[in-house]
Amino acid sequence: MTRILITSALPYVNGVKHLGNLVGSLLPADVHARFRRQTGCDVLFICATDEHGTPAELGAIEAGQDVRTFCDAQHAIQADIYRRFGLSFDHFGRTSSSHNHALTQRFYRRLDAAGLIEARTTRQVFSPADRRFLPDRYVLGTCPHCGDPSARGDQCDHCGTLLDPPELIEPRSALSGDRALEIRASRHLFLRQSQLVEKIGAWIDSRSGWPPFVVSTAKSWLNADLRDRCITRDLAWGIAVPRAGFDGKVFYVWFDAPIGYITATQEWADVAAGRDWRQWWWQADEVSYIQFLGKDNIPFHTVSFPATLLGSGEPWKTADVIKGFHWLNYEGGKFSTSRKRGIFTDAALEELPADLWRWWLIANAPESADTDFNVTRFVADVNKDLADIFGNLANRIISFAHRAFDGRIPEGGAPGDAERKLALDLEQRITTLHRHHIALEFRAAAAATRAIWDVANAYLQHAAPWTAIKSDPDRAAVVARVGLNLVALCATLAWSIVPSLSERVLGAFGRNDAVPRWPNGPLLPLLDDGAGTPVASFGPLVEKISPEKADHLTRRFGA
Ligand code: 2FM
Ligand code: ZN
Repeated sequence: MTRILITSALPYVNGVKHLGNLVGSLLPADVHARFRRQTGCDVLFICATDEHGTPAELGAIEAGQDVRTFCDAQHAIQADIYRRFGLSFDHFGRTSSSHNHALTQRFYRRLDAAGLIEARTTRQVFSPADRRFLPDRYVLGTCPHCGDPSARGDQCDHCGTLLDPPELIEPRSALSGDRALEIRASRHLFLRQSQLVEKIGAWIDSRSGWPPFVVSTAKSWLNADLRDRCITRDLAWGIAVPRAGFDGKVFYVWFDAPIGYITATQEWADVAAGRDWRQWWWQADEVSYIQFLGKDNIPFHTVSFPATLLGSGEPWKTADVIKGFHWLNYEGGKFSTSRKRGIFTDAALEELPADLWRWWLIANAPESADTDFNVTRFVADVNKDLADIFGNLANRIISFAHRAFDGRIPEGGAPGDAERKLALDLEQRITTLHRHHIALEFRAAAAATRAIWDVANAYLQHAAPWTAIKSDPDRAAVVARVGLNLVALCATLAWSIVPSLSERVLGAFGRNDAVPRWPNGPLLPLLDDGAGTPVASFGPLVEKISPEKADHLTRRFGA
């Protein structure tokens, strides 16, 4: 059995994520994991909350909680939202786990033993009033470029310039407002990535199937004079640095976070007997490993994390394919967590079932360029694809079976030319759909899925069993039988993208497999199958989004 390891970028623990975060890694990773399970692969789908660093500390301060309590609560909130979105993680772990502490320190020791760690003295901002060093984001001041008074030490959001805290005019502490800031010396550890340029370059060249923009981003980082990377911070919350003279310092969040992919697998293995995390991560040449992430994460996954893994000199599994995504924009501007702009995952689920969001996001995934989310288009697309095409297909033929055939797949008659042609056409379309999934072409996979629904609708429209029943009951039985099997087939093929809708359809046929199997071999027998099976009727599969509801969405999520 082919082993497929899938990871989604680990969402920061602070705050509920927006739809841009969802489509940028979590959702496509889930669709791919589901598809691979359908085709019989042994899949391990791992994710976790990224719990260290300034985002968590700042979030806790804002919430008035200690960091651990804050992370416990936020992890639970995110886990619940992802469950309701149908994200089928095998494990959703936490980078604050004891495994992650242990393995991060172990990697540090290996890298140190390999001569790849160097201690250097750096200049850091210190606040006497706060009695601590301030991370770049904790320093506020006036931007030297545009004069915006609320620039942060790492970046001015107003003009977009990247900054160093000492550049800010009239700097102050974001915690206490302290203006008596000092620059003090502080010892830090650097990972000597510059020593690994050749190794990482050869590693990137040995991979294939990455989107071109991921390769070019990786190479430009690598070739633009790869700088040694500071992997420690003057923070209290994080993983302690096991080295004399480094008390009170922790590893940089971006050093320990990707190690979380491995340690969340260790957490997964702890849950049940017979699970071995090493099979996935250690000398695991037969495993195919796919990482899903947004474009801001590319350098960390193509250069920094490989530097940790390759630098250790040990046989760790590295990514085979890195599937990066561009941004989903919101009504012409950026989704923004800090500005609460856009649609957040909890609010999305308050308004509409998960599958409506899942469908639109996958059908419009920002794979080759940034994509704009727009309420009007979303409503039109979802109403058409899910209600008019897929929903209508299911409702029409199932209610006909109830009117004409006692709510069962009818027997009688034999498939003719129309059915043979239909089966051949669908066999090709299913091959194409399969190919898009394997190639991680999500928009194309959604389009191919919808095209199969169209073919099914066109067949029924043309063969019109509701007319044939009056003159040729056997013919009507064939078409109804094929039509009903078609509906189940359409649901099976769409399961990875819209699992709840599919399960509802398949459930009507009494098929309640946890994972509906991908169709294999000649299709005609499958379409002619199941005579006598009862098919339960259900109300509309998808409620159309009304104009009033659309107005409400526009008001609630308005630009
Ligand atoms: O950008 C982010 O949301 C990070 N928390 C992603 C981390 S991915 C992994 F390396 F941990
Ligand atoms: Zn500025």
